[in-house]
Amino acid sequence: MKGIILAGGTGSRLYPMTLSVSKQLLPIYDKPMIYYPLSTLIKCGIKQILIISTRDDLPIFKRLLGDGSQWGCSLHYESQDYPKGLADAFIVGNEFIGNSNVTLILGDNFFFGGNFENEILSRKDLNGGFIFALRVSNPERYGVIEFDNNFKAIGIEEKPKKPKSPFVVPGIYCYDSSVVSKAKSLNFSDRGELEISEINKAFLKDSNLEVKVLNDNTIWLDTGTVDSLMKANQFVETLQERKGILVGSPELSAFQSNLITKETLSILVESMSESKYGKFLKSNL
Ligand code: TTP
Repeated sequence: MKGIILAGGTGSRLYPMTLSVSKQLLPIYDKPMIYYPLSTLIKCGIKQILIISTRDDLPIFKRLLGDGSQWGCSLHYESQDYPKGLADAFIVGNEFIGNSNVTLILGDNFFFGGNFENEILSRKDLNGGFIFALRVSNPERYGVIEFDNNFKAIGIEEKPKKPKSPFVVPGIYCYDSSVVSKAKSLNFSDRGELEISEINKAFLKDSNLEVKVLNDNTIWLDTGTVDSLMKANQFVETLQERKGILVGSPELSAFQSNLITKETLSILVESMSESKYGKFLKSNL
């Protein structure tokens, strides 16, 4: 299983903060936003990761994350000409994906709790598509899943005015390599994007889409608005300061996934010993 982090886009809901800085480089509490999806992928046992962003922002991501070898991973970079939609990730990532399975995570999505990392780990040899369903209070903003009486997914609608359920697809999606040809055959939607919901519908039509309902303890935040960004900051602060749980740390995730040794982790920690993040990481050693 390979991974893709989609970290381009416009970030217009965060203007003027994102006029000159990519949204995924903004901080969530003590670390850049992209650390969170990156460490989620690492926890899912994914070592080969493609980062997609704008041509202008890619050099900054490269400076921040490097080639990933410090975390026992291999990071690759590709640019997207303009924001064509989430499904464009599979066209931009075409060569990177090759014949592998792939997990796409959105660069501004934050996951905590639940058991979804193990669910993904156990689907390395996936055939078809695998997505999650999560209950939210504002389903009309997302891809909404319709279920039959046996809780089998029977439909998906992108941003419907009248949602058929409170269950939506959060921003982490797993597919086999047929996702590339599915993405290439999509047409642009009325809002001018290649929609990920259309990919999911294509797998559903082939009876090849598994939908796993996450329990209500799973926290999923999409940090694309000022309010949700603030909530994410507060949530991480609460987890780290009150409960002592470090989240969004590629170093810690790499260590827990046996990608780096304790010695390497200690060296990485030393280089950041003056920062709050470094100090907290050290206390987790
Ligand atoms: P969105 O939040 O839907 O879009 P955006 O980041 O452009 O923000 P806004 O609506 O405020 O203008 O995107 C979700 C994630 O996917 C985010 O990390 C940006 C990324 N993205 C791309 O990289 N390319 C794209 O074509 C799109 C649509 C999003």
